[in-house]
Amino acid sequence: MTRPTSEKAKSPRLSTKKLTNMAFAYKQSGTLVAALELGLFLKVSQGENTVKKAAKSMDLPVTAIDKLMTACTALGLFKKKGEFYYNSPEADRYLVKGNKKYYGDFLIHQAKTEYDNWKDLGAAIRRPPMEKSMYHSMMHDEKFARALTVAGYNSSIAAGYKFAREFDFSPYTLFLDLGGGSGCYSIPAVLSNPKLSAIVFDFPAVIKVTQEFVAQAGLSDRITTVPGDFTVDDLPKGADLVSVIGNLHAYSMDETEFIIKKAFDAVTPGGALIIIDYMLNKVKTGPLEAAFHHLGSVATSSKGCVKSTKEMSAFMKRAGAKDITINDFIPDSMSRVTGKKPK
Ligand SMILES: C[S@@+](CC[C@H](N)C(=O)[O-])C[C@H]1O[C@@H](n2cnc3c(N)ncnc32)[C@H](O)[C@@H]1O
Repeated sequence: MTRPTSEKAKSPRLSTKKLTNMAFAYKQSGTLVAALELGLFLKVSQGENTVKKAAKSMDLPVTAIDKLMTACTALGLFKKKGEFYYNSPEADRYLVKGNKKYYGDFLIHQAKTEYDNWKDLGAAIRRPPMEKSMYHSMMHDEKFARALTVAGYNSSIAAGYKFAREFDFSPYTLFLDLGGGSGCYSIPAVLSNPKLSAIVFDFPAVIKVTQEFVAQAGLSDRITTVPGDFTVDDLPKGADLVSVIGNLHAYSMDETEFIIKKAFDAVTPGGALIIIDYMLNKVKTGPLEAAFHHLGSVATSSKGCVKSTKEMSAFMKRAGAKDITINDFIPDSMSRVTGKKPK
């Protein structure tokens, strides 16, 4: 049966474009990572911004660099005028090594480590997950721990400053950041709040790197570090503000509930617990980045999962928290759930 013409006119025009973009997204990733690894955005910012100059400065074949620069331009990473290339505003801010907001190490690290897992996702779905979290299996490797923590500093320091601007730290004196990684949340918090001290708690191999970032910031007297595993070790006492940021998606529902309860128990009366992480919306239809982190645990054979804001608040409530609030932290990606401990 043919549909009436008016109905046909109303249906959206279907095309394979969206599907093609999805299936071949690895080409975008490969282009960006290659340009980053070669330091191409830095070269262009330094005026090595023709194909010949860029190729010569890197001692690489002109023909291949020509192709790479063309693809980067088509992706919108460069603007081209005549034979000259210029970084796009985003490339200029985030992809030029040495710039304050440089984000490239994180992108390289994640794209490279995750690619192999994602390309065989179908097979991974059939495998049972590992017993222990991804962090338990990887963070004892000093080289991996350093690479992830340095990359994590790149990726999260801007979020750390955003948090320091948005959150009122004035009622608090001691901030305990569980799984605090590089110190990327504690450093901005302490710099912006003269009466605040902080403790970063993380695995021993991470803490070595944290200490370097803290020393570079000149804060070794106000930020202390404690090595340990928050799933088994005792937590430092006396903090009136405790946070768990960016790591609960690596844990199962039961493990997350256990960690939240333990973290809440560590808060002194009158204090608060903050959870920041990828979180799904109440009905679990997105956002996409949170959904990818949720699925990413299958790719890495982890029991971890991304929880919804509703599930995180329920964990907080069952731990005994009052005045629970939910805020967007990074729109379409991370949320913040805060709960208070009664005096
Ligand atoms: C994705 S990083 C996030 C670091 C930092 N909070 C941020 O948001 O950038 C997760 C951190 O949690 C730490 N972590 C995960 N599980 C942990 C555990 N059981 N005990 C201590 N640290 C843990 C990891 O070592 C890692 O440094």
